[in-house]
Amino acid sequence: MKKILSIFLFLSSILGASSAPLVKKQVKCTLGEYEVRDFSHLIGMEGFDNNLLKMHFTLYRGYVKNTNLLIRLLKSYAAEHQERDYPYQAIKRRFGWEFDGMRLHELYFGNLGGKKPLDHSSGLYRMIQRDFGSYENWKKDFIATGMMRGIGWSILYLDPKEDRLFNTWINEHDTGHLAGGDLILVMDVWEHAYMPQYGLNRAGYIDAFFKNIDWERAIDRFHNAVIRR
Ligand SMILES: [Fe+2]
Repeated sequence: MKKILSIFLFLSSILGASSAPLVKKQVKCTLGEYEVRDFSHLIGMEGFDNNLLKMHFTLYRGYVKNTNLLIRLLKSYAAEHQERDYPYQAIKRRFGWEFDGMRLHELYFGNLGGKKPLDHSSGLYRMIQRDFGSYENWKKDFIATGMMRGIGWSILYLDPKEDRLFNTWINEHDTGHLAGGDLILVMDVWEHAYMPQYGLNRAGYIDAFFKNIDWERAIDRFHNAVIRR
């Protein structure tokens, strides 16, 4: 029965997915620095002040800058054979925080700017229905996750090994990720993401987030994760 359901979800994810041909990635021959991605097309989005977005883009650039900085520092310490020294180890511990801060912001901005609701014929919608009972149940849980006290992220994760969805709380940027999981929908609930505009009204910000989700992007992520496994 589970096998049949998996095949059904797999097929409907393909049929419901919004294009994006799957291209096999080539391994790069050279290693460059991480580059800042441009999300300026989000300016003017309903429910998001332009100043809030511009400030958020600036913070995101800081994560890219620091990720590159830490890579350079680790490399230079290694070249001096200082891998067992405290600075090297301290930077090593910090690396995941900066890297995840960079990548999560790219995923967050990347799943904003949409205008359409989640396609009910998509595999993602069907899996949400199966795992949460209904879209409304899933949304309630995703919002509750995002309303948790603390600074972090609410993330809809797919466990591709068992074809299961989870709404997950990520503390700061780096605690709580599901190993081997695929990030389908990412919502920033650090205070900087909403307080300058919404003050303590985090629920108001989450409402604005939902009005701007790019569900086609989320379906693409889901589709690529299902195909890849
Ligand atoms: Fe943020």
